[in-house]
Amino acid sequence: MASDLGLVGAGVMGANLALNFAERGRGVAVYDLTAGKAEAVAEQSERVVAVGADLADLVAALKPPRPIILMTPAGAPTDAAIERLAPLLNSDDILIDCGNADFHDTERRAAALAASGLRYLGVGVSGGAEGARTGPAIMAGGAPEAWDVVAPIFQQSAAHYDGAPCCAWLGRGGAGHFVKTIHNGVEYADMQMIAEVYGVLRDGLSMTSAEISDIFAKWNEGPLESFLVKITATVAAATDPKTGRPMLEVIEDTAGQKGTGRWSAIEALRLGAPASTIEAAVTARNISADKDARRRAEALYGPAPKTLGDALGDRTEAVAMLEGALLAGKLIAYEQGFGVLTAASDEYDWGLPLAEVARVWRAGCIIRAGLLNEISEALEASPGRRLLEADSISSRLSGSIPTLRRTVSASALSGLPTPALSAALNYFETSHIGQGTASLTQAQRDFFGSHGFRRIDMPGDHHGPW
Ligand code: 6PG
Repeated sequence: MASDLGLVGAGVMGANLALNFAERGRGVAVYDLTAGKAEAVAEQSERVVAVGADLADLVAALKPPRPIILMTPAGAPTDAAIERLAPLLNSDDILIDCGNADFHDTERRAAALAASGLRYLGVGVSGGAEGARTGPAIMAGGAPEAWDVVAPIFQQSAAHYDGAPCCAWLGRGGAGHFVKTIHNGVEYADMQMIAEVYGVLRDGLSMTSAEISDIFAKWNEGPLESFLVKITATVAAATDPKTGRPMLEVIEDTAGQKGTGRWSAIEALRLGAPASTIEAAVTARNISADKDARRRAEALYGPAPKTLGDALGDRTEAVAMLEGALLAGKLIAYEQGFGVLTAASDEYDWGLPLAEVARVWRAGCIIRAGLLNEISEALEASPGRRLLEADSISSRLSGSIPTLRRTVSASALSGLPTPALSAALNYFETSHIGQGTASLTQAQRDFFGSHGFRRIDMPGDHHGPW
């Protein structure tokens, strides 16, 4: 019997996604370049069939119009798969790239395939292996007519929040992959801020991994409730079976990255949209990568004092302070993420539905958090305004910014690094003052380059008396 959809690339995400579709009653034909991989997926479900070495077999195994999902590594492997598949398809068929593609590639591929009469969707899928298997968040982009054909398949397999699927069409071309990229940028910022707070607890307050785990577990019951805070409690509680030590003490402190956080920062800079928390998070991963260089510098300059003493009050007060700081930092990361989406939406004419993006992020994805429901309501209620100007968000920020100020300043005095939290604080400080310091920047630009400036008291372009 012909299958409902095809899937190319039976890696961890592809295999789990195929099984998810199958569990919801879809017949899935799976293809992988590596012999045995598709078969391994097929063994786990009677609705999954493995197709042989030839992509033509995959196409032949599907009911028209044929939806074919690509779960190939981003970049050249995806181009190679498209190049081999395209000649086998007709204009009703729909190619759907569900990988972490660079949205520029998605736009290029969609345009090239449209020119040869084929339909192409770029769909961001978040949730890691488990999300793919049980219900990811799905951010779709491309021609809406093509999405309408496959939407029921994705909606059924997506995560649900209060009965609503976390799956939406967000705009044409590369809009879905752009939103997924910014999701990952916010993911980087969120993770980095959590790591910074972990560092303050561990080094500034000399807490054990078990104590830190308890703190994050407690925080997960309040406004910080989120997947990343929850798994922080879990990983901090874990013990290394080989040595009996806390896992966090045996893992080397060098962070990996596949590139989506960096893309986020690059796109934000290109658009002129502030994303300093994301940039700080990418930079922190970059710095972490060269452990030898860090060790040499520590020997040269000596270690930082680190101990906080009672700079944040007693232990209970310090923990409450850090909870507030993390909340403020997280809100600023969202503010910046949605700011980048707004800028991109204007630049590429996508009409991105920001409240809908926040709704999609409420479940299934890595940055899912209780706050996102409130954020979706805030964005809905205040269209066209910055998130930090929305009512519920501004009252949360007003309450938590003082704790962020205390945390960042106390940490700085002890030499405890908080680059993303500091970036969040400085973003807040610079973006809520009526009178900044760019007057001096303008004077300098005019001095050395006659670039001109606007005056506060008369219209037109002016020059100084230098
Ligand atoms: C997701 C994740 C997923 C992946 C990241 C990890 O939304 O499911 O973001 O896409 O885990 O790509 O990224 P790094 O390897 O760059 O940390």
